[in-house]
Amino acid sequence: MDGRRVFLKRFVKSGFGLLAFLFGATLLRFLYPSQVRARQLLYHPLLKEDDIPRQGVRRVHLTYDKGEKTITMRLFLVHAGADIFALSSSCAHLGCLVDWSRHKEQFICPCHGGKYDMQGNVVAGPPPLSLARMPLKIENGIVYIGIKV
Ligand code: FES
Repeated sequence: MDGRRVFLKRFVKSGFGLLAFLFGATLLRFLYPSQVRARQLLYHPLLKEDDIPRQGVRRVHLTYDKGEKTITMRLFLVHAGADIFALSSSCAHLGCLVDWSRHKEQFICPCHGGKYDMQGNVVAGPPPLSLARMPLKIENGIVYIGIKV
């Protein structure tokens, strides 16, 4: 009899503990969604370091698995002076895909005429923000791009 009572007490206590943990985790995610998500950054291999353009812009595609889906996204690797960085191809206005014009040395959005310089800064049109820079790291000769999950 005492054994059953002790077991039930422990069972109820552990159930309340689990509920409190789940409630706290949900509350934390609700109150600080960006901070919680910002910590969850996964790096995916893009290409070899030798394939970075010596100077200028190269359009590349990143393919990675997200759950059961395979995602392919277009982005740009930029080598400007000593800086190497990755820019999203998603226009900051309404999300159309921009493309690099080697002739004009600008990223051009086909939807509403948004234009960006090589750094991704807006130079014309309606985009309210620069092209987003994507997290990039180079390790052991491989370029990785960080994706928030
Ligand atoms: S979506 Fe690019 S300028 Fe509007």
